[in-house]
This record gives sequence, C-alpha cells and structure tokens, in this order.
Amino acid sequence: MKKGMIIIAGILFLSSVMLLSVHSQEDVTEVDRSVFTNPQRPAAVFKHDAHNQNAGIENCNECHHVYEDGKLLEDESSEDQRCADCHGPEADGNKPSLVKAFHVNCKGCHEKQQKAPILCGECHVR
Ligand code: HEC
Ligand code: HEC
Ligand code: HEC
Ligand code: HEC
Repeated sequence: MKKGMIIIAGILFLSSVMLLSVHSQEDVTEVDRSVFTNPQRPAAVFKHDAHNQNAGIENCNECHHVYEDGKLLEDESSEDQRCADCHGPEADGNKPSLVKAFHVNCKGCHEKQQKAPILCGECHVR
C-alpha cells in the first residue's frame, strides 16, 4: 500500500513538473517575431490551438512542412522548428523570405477559405 502511494505521489510530482516546464503550442498566441528587429506592424494574432481547431486543420504539416530536394514530404512535420530556422530575411531559390512565408501560408489559405481575415489590421491587431 505504502509503496503504491509513494509511486503515485512520484508520478503526480513528475507530471506537474513537466506541465510547468514544457512550453507547448497551447501557449502560442502570436508568432515568434524576434527576428524582425524593427517591426512596422503590431504582432499578428495567432492563437495556435484555438485557431487550428476553429479552422478545422488536422495536419500539422499543413504549416510545419518538410521538403527534401524540392519535394514535400507528406508524413513529416517540422513542428519542432521555427519558421525562422529555415526561412531567412531574403528568399532563397523556391524558399520564400520569412515575411513572405507567413503571408503566403496565412493569407493564402484565408483567401481560399473566404471566411478568414485577409486585411492587414485583422491579423496585425493593435
Ligand atoms: C492572415 C494574417 C496576416 C495578414 C492579413 C497580414 N499579415 Fe503581415 N504578418 C503576418 C504574420 C503571421 C507575420 C509574422 C509575425 C509577426 O510579425 O507578427 C507578419 C509579418 C509582417 C511584417 C514583418 C514584421 C513587421 O511588423 O515589420 C510586415 C511588415 C507585415 N506583416 C505587413 C503586413 C501588411 C502591410 C499587411 C496588409 C497588406 C499584412 N501584413 C497582412 C500575418 C498577416
Ligand atoms: C495554421 C498553421 C499551423 C498549424 C496547422 C500547426 N501549427 Fe504549430 N505553429 C504554427 C506557427 C506559425 C508557429 C510559430 C512558429 C514560429 O514562431 O516560427 C507554431 C508553433 C508551434 C510550436 C512551437 C511552440 C513554442 O513556441 O515552443 C509547436 C510545438 C507546434 N507549433 C506544434 C504543432 C502541432 C503538434 C500541430 C498539429 C497538431 C501544429 N503545430 C499545427 C503554425 C501552425
Ligand atoms: C525545415 C525547414 C523549414 C521549416 C521549419 C519551414 N519551412 Fe517553409 N519552406 C521550406 C523550403 C525548403 C521551402 C521551399 C520548397 C520548394 O522547394 O518548393 C519552403 C517553402 C515555403 C512556402 C512556399 C511554398 C508553400 O508551401 O506554399 C511557404 C509559404 C512556407 N514555406 C511557409 C512556412 C511557414 C509559415 C513555416 C513555419 C510554420 C515554415 N515554412 C517552416 C523549409 C521550411
Ligand atoms: C490551412 C488554412 C489556414 C492557415 C494556413 C491559416 N489560417 Fe487562419 N484561419 C483559417 C480559417 C478557416 C479561419 C476561420 C475560422 C473560423 O471560421 O472561425 C481562420 C481564422 C483566423 C483568424 C481570426 C480568428 C482567430 O482565430 O483569431 C486569425 C487572426 C488568423 N486566422 C490568423 C492566422 C495566421 C497568423 C496564420 C499563419 C501563421 C493563419 N491564420 C494560417 C485558416 C487558416
């Protein structure tokens, strides 16, 4: 009995530590924009999980994609990387610059869906 209690207490303790230390996508409310050293617009709103749930997007790699030799790898996801890890300030071949990457990804889908924001001030909310 006692041993069981200790194990349960241990599991509870460990899971609370994990909850506190893991910064996950649930906490994302805007995109990391630290690379834009002199931003011209207010930060774009992006409440990660709520957004993706409302928009009904199921595949993580709809946004967190992986390419190999110019081909999209259907079953792979780069969710452990920032967009800025691959997209630099300037375009590089087929790879758009970071600003363009965001605008094409976000606005591109919004334009297709026709019920999501496409005006500057709707994403870059003051
Ligand atoms: C669908 C959402 C969306 C719309 C609409 C949108 N943007 Fe953005 N924009 C983003 C995201 C996401 C980023 C990258 C994260 C950030 O900077 O907040 C970004 C970044 C930028 C940046 C680089 C960072 C900065 O502030 O200097 C500029 C400039 C910018 N947008 C201008 C515009 C302008 C001008 C319009 C309207 C023509 C516009 N955006 C419309 C989502 C959007
Ligand atoms: C609509 C586009 C989109 C979809 C779909 C999406 N994400 Fe993201 N996610 C983003 C953007 C944008 C960021 C911020 C990236 C950055 O700052 O460069 C992000 C950030 C993250 C982060 C990093 C959080 C942090 O700050 O440490 C994780 C983890 C993550 N996403 C996981 C997921 C998982 C898992 C899924 C699928 C269930 C998913 N994402 C689906 C766009 C998306
Ligand atoms: C692991 C590296 C990597 C990461 C991380 C990454 N990209 Fe890309 N992305 C690429 C490469 C490589 C291409 C060029 C693909 C090709 O050859 O056509 C690309 C192309 C794009 C394109 C243009 C083609 C398309 O798919 O529409 C957009 C838009 C884009 N990325 C947005 C994003 C956004 C937004 C994020 C973050 C959520 C992101 N990327 C994260 C590597 C990456
Ligand atoms: C694959 C499609 C898709 C992509 C990619 C996408 N969105 Fe959306 N987004 C939607 C849809 C659909 C809605 C409308 C959902 C609804 O009806 O509530 C939406 C709604 C929104 C809204 C308004 C509602 C809310 O959640 O606040 C904002 C702001 C927004 N998106 C920002 C972004 C940004 C920033 C990005 C890029 C980082 C992005 N979206 C990428 C499909 C997408």
